[in-house]
Amino acid sequence: MRKVKNIGVLTSGGDAPGMNAAIRAVVRTGYFYGYNVFGISRGYEGLINGEIKKLSPRDVSGILQDGGTILKTARCLKFMNPEHRKRAHEICRVFNIDVVIVIGGDGSYKGALDFSIEGMPVIGLPGTIDNDINCTEYTIGYDTALNTVMDSIDKLRDTAYSHERCTVIEVMGRDAGYIAVNDGIAGGADIILIPETKFDIDRDVIKPILECRNRGKKDYCIIVAEGVGNANELCSAITEKTGIISRATILGYVQRGGSPTAYDRIMASKMGAKAIEVINEGRLNRIICLNDNKLIDYDIKEALDMKKELDVELLELAKIISI
Ligand code: F6P
Repeated sequence: MRKVKNIGVLTSGGDAPGMNAAIRAVVRTGYFYGYNVFGISRGYEGLINGEIKKLSPRDVSGILQDGGTILKTARCLKFMNPEHRKRAHEICRVFNIDVVIVIGGDGSYKGALDFSIEGMPVIGLPGTIDNDINCTEYTIGYDTALNTVMDSIDKLRDTAYSHERCTVIEVMGRDAGYIAVNDGIAGGADIILIPETKFDIDRDVIKPILECRNRGKKDYCIIVAEGVGNANELCSAITEKTGIISRATILGYVQRGGSPTAYDRIMASKMGAKAIEVINEGRLNRIICLNDNKLIDYDIKEALDMKKELDVELLELAKIISI
């Protein structure tokens, strides 16, 4: 294998706060070790199109505190197609890129795995607000999203309290309930609905709300992950079955934006630096992870085969402490 001189970096999938901190760390740690770092715009899409530019340490000044990604991002289905990956590989040859650092989620790693099998080395950094990457306990952007959602729950509870209503808050997470469960606990939700567990409206929503009312509660907070169902329909059902006036708020894309928290900045910086260190040690096709509070790296294939279960005991805890 030839010695690595030139490193490409791209962001892929949904943007997440802290991606810029990771890019900055990649560029500056890369510079520190004597590598050339190339920014690839718009994820795999930009790679296929050759949208690539060398980044100096000054090019990543002033971005640490910014949400989004200066490299832009895309969900590029084309990259699933071997012909397009072949094109991307040719582009890497043109720019003499020896390894591509992919900041994104499991979906982005699937393309990266195929790319690596076809001979283009990769390194993965976990970036998504959903925290749903199997090989790691933490993903870049998750902490900021948690705090954004918590802030919204606090505000929505103020108005629910004043009007003695039920507030139903839909949070992101098509397939994963990490935001819903943890923000449910942080925001003191009465009921949390997540895609990992089946729910029955009478058993899991109406009955507990009525029990809350019997215990003297006058306002209620329900967190529902987007993968579970429609928050407006849930509201109508609650009002119809209990007479309690309910209002739905779909938080949507505010959850993906904003200035990263200190934790996301620090972790993204460490992970970005770790990606370069792993390359420097001659280890390629690795995914950087945080497990048991330690930064580690796994082989990409091994990482993609891992399973991560949401701790459903947290749901039990939420029920106990929301009484
Ligand atoms: O990136 C994660 C995420 O925000 C999910 O929570 C959400 O389901 C999805 O992306 C939305 O993706 P898009 O913006 O591509 O529709």
